[in-house]
Amino acid sequence: MDGASTSATTAYQSGFGNHFTTEALPGALPQGRNSPQKAPYGLYAEGISGTAFTVPRGQSRQTWCYRIRPTAKHPPYAQSQHRTWLTAGSAGPGGNPNQMRWSPLPIPDAPTDLIDGVVTYAVCGTAQAGISIHLYAANRSMTDRFFHNADGEMLFVPQQGRLVLHTELGIVEAAPGEIAVVPRGIKFRAELPEGASRGYICENHGAALRLPELGPIGTNGLANPRDFQSPVAAFEDRTGAFELVFKFDGGFWATQIDRSPLDVVAWHGTHVPYRYDLTKFMTIGTVSYDHPDPSIFTVLTSPSSDAGTANLDFAIFPPRWMVGEDTFRPPWFHRNVMSEFMGLVEGVYDAKADGFLPGGASLHNCMAGHGPDAATFEAASNAELVPEKLDDTLAFMFETRHLARPTPFAMETPLLQADYLDCWAGLEVRFDPSRR
Ligand SMILES: [Fe+2]
Repeated sequence: MDGASTSATTAYQSGFGNHFTTEALPGALPQGRNSPQKAPYGLYAEGISGTAFTVPRGQSRQTWCYRIRPTAKHPPYAQSQHRTWLTAGSAGPGGNPNQMRWSPLPIPDAPTDLIDGVVTYAVCGTAQAGISIHLYAANRSMTDRFFHNADGEMLFVPQQGRLVLHTELGIVEAAPGEIAVVPRGIKFRAELPEGASRGYICENHGAALRLPELGPIGTNGLANPRDFQSPVAAFEDRTGAFELVFKFDGGFWATQIDRSPLDVVAWHGTHVPYRYDLTKFMTIGTVSYDHPDPSIFTVLTSPSSDAGTANLDFAIFPPRWMVGEDTFRPPWFHRNVMSEFMGLVEGVYDAKADGFLPGGASLHNCMAGHGPDAATFEAASNAELVPEKLDDTLAFMFETRHLARPTPFAMETPLLQADYLDCWAGLEVRFDPSRR
């Protein structure tokens, strides 16, 4: 950093959906008006509308920035390429009803930053109402390269290595076991202080993620608002030879800039990055028998225009007590109109004895049958049903109303486990009409 007045504070303000106010220099945030004739310190006022002006007030995501230079000032973008990042609605991949599972994505040998390290596994819906599902594997920090995405907000689920997201609105860190969300359009660069880093990204093209309604649960439970953290203002006042990459309409564009675009000295609003520690999730399950539907594990949801039918549900399966009486305790066999893409942050997932590994992934598409493998079925059908703590586990699911179309990479990579369906081959016919 060569900027004398760079502020690199990492600190957070708590809450979800709050209208936050923050300034990295005293008095930098104008009081009483959003665009005064002259903003303090010679800053430019710039509004960011993350939702249309006229959405219902409770859904509005808007932020006012006070920055060293406005975003409008930059040389023209030129089209660029990304080898492995695809977007929902892009031509190419078709549907595939087979259950799929992938071994962990290897960390590359060549220097690779977070953006170059994105590999798309599935695209779902369209670039206006859908999601794109990626993994990333990277080993190099972005120092002189910045990125912003007009196509959607980005939900990061690190699996290996801490992610430090330097955004326009401040610094957001996420280690494995935590998540971070960068809203649509917010510029950032990612540092990887531990080098080799891997994780999952859901690029959400639909309505911004929010906390699910709680219904009869009441006011407390699942992910509680106060455990979400948004950054305080932190800015870079530095010059250099920088690249700014813009993801737009599924394509990649780049321009050369000579000042860091992370130059917001103060801001206020609701269109903000945030992070959340998944260990804070208050998990709710049965205390009698059977299971509630897995929607009980929803951390964040992106609703669609059909009530209760999410564009994206982000659900987790964290450590928890299993106490159900006369109950088959692992996830049961089922088929779902929603498509289910799963990942594993750490440990073992309770529906599979082996093969589903941290850093791996699985896809069970719309109406594709799935459930416990034969070994898990056998063990759980005969287990003594004492209260049991499931520990050493953190799986998650990106669940969507859209068909999940696996990408050419996902179908052609040797990481795709050709023998996945064998995990159910050992399920023998147990039916005996003479034995009730
Ligand atoms: Fe499922």
